Parts: sequence; structure tokens; C-alpha cells
Amino acid sequence: MSTTTSTASPGYWEALWAEGRRYRQPCEAEEKLMAEHLGPGRGRPALDIGTGDGRLARHLHHELGYRTTGVDCSPSAVALAAAHDSDAGSAPMWQCLDFANATLTTLPDPAYVLITCRLVYRWMDDKPAFLGRVRRLLAPGGTFWVVTEIAGRRTTTDPNRFGLGIPLADAELLTTGWSVVRTADLDVLRCYALRP
Ligand SMILES: C[S@@+](CC[C@H](N)C(=O)[O-])C[C@H]1O[C@@H](n2cnc3c(N)ncnc32)[C@H](O)[C@@H]1O
Repeated sequence: MSTTTSTASPGYWEALWAEGRRYRQPCEAEEKLMAEHLGPGRGRPALDIGTGDGRLARHLHHELGYRTTGVDCSPSAVALAAAHDSDAGSAPMWQCLDFANATLTTLPDPAYVLITCRLVYRWMDDKPAFLGRVRRLLAPGGTFWVVTEIAGRRTTTDPNRFGLGIPLADAELLTTGWSVVRTADLDVLRCYALRP
């Protein structure tokens, strides 16, 4: 009997981080979009889900001024993120957490004015449950910022890369039920700013 490992589980991601797999970093254009859509943090709480090596969380914390927590289900990713902190000054908080399954009461704040997830939504195998968890943590008037690849935009013939984008149905699910939906395109990626 064959079993399939969930792509939203520590078992799947820890092996990839531990063997040295790394992911596309935010570029200047993406950071400019964040500044435009998210605005200054002024010390308010932000949560980066699936933070990986923590680059986005550090940007939110140090450049935009959000008091940021980065969570990831892979212990190796969290260790990598924390290794960037210097002893001087404030740094994001890092927590090893399976956002799809764990209790969320261990998070440092009960609600967040900004929740981000970059290159993560694609891998959530129960997307309605994932979105429900996000909505419960998002403060009224807050923003859910999602960056994801869109299916069909790649010109590569590499079959491993075709599956990185989300199909239309998952994009529709993501954008349903918000009072504000704003999008911006960056080559194969789309950024979404969603407000309840
Ligand atoms: C493609 S990587 C993107 C990492 C980072 N956001 C970036 O933009 O570089 C997806 C990340 O999501 C994390 N992840 C996947 N499922 C998760 C879950 N259930 N809870 C928390 N993190 C998860 C993985 O460990 C991995 O670090």
C-alpha cells in the first residue's frame, strides 16, 4: 500500500530544507508592491506563515516596521531564519509550528493586522481549512498578503516546474468572501492583498 506525504506537513518540508533546497527570494519589485499595498507597520503585529529562511519576515520587521512573527513547520528552516538575527536590536520572533494542524493559541498574539504567506498557499492540501485558520487570526481591517505562482505562465518544458502554480479554481477560492481584493502581477507570480 502506498501512502502520500502531505505537502503541508513537516515530513515533506524538513527533508527539503535539511538537504539544502532554497526558494526564490523577494525582489525589489515585490518589496515595492508590499510597501504600496501594506503600508507602514508602526509596531503592529504581523504573522508570516511558512516563513522559510525568514527573508520576508525580516523585511516586514526591519523595513516596514511590523512586530513580526515567522512560523514554519520545518525546524531546519526556523533555525536558518533565526541564524540571521544579530544580538543588537529587535528581531522577528520565530516559531516552529505546523500552521495547518497545530493549535494556534501558542502564537504570541491572538490577532494580526497583517498575515503573509509567500509561495505557501499552493502547498496547502486543505485550502478551505487553511483559509479558515487565517481568517480567524486576521484582525478586523487587517490584510492577508499572498504571493503565489499562477498555473500556465511558465514557458519551461520541465514537468517538475509546471505544478508550481495554482489553478484558476484555487485562485477563485482564495479571493472569495473578502470585501477588498487587490492583485498585482510579477512575471509568473501574483500578489494578492485581501481584506475582510
Ligand atoms: C516554497 S517554501 C517558501 C518559503 C518562504 N515563504 C519564501 O518565500 O521563501 C514553502 C514553505 O512553507 C512551509 N510550510 C509548508 N507547510 C507548512 C505548514 N503546514 N505550516 C507551516 N509552514 C509550512 C515550508 O516548510 C516552507 O518553508
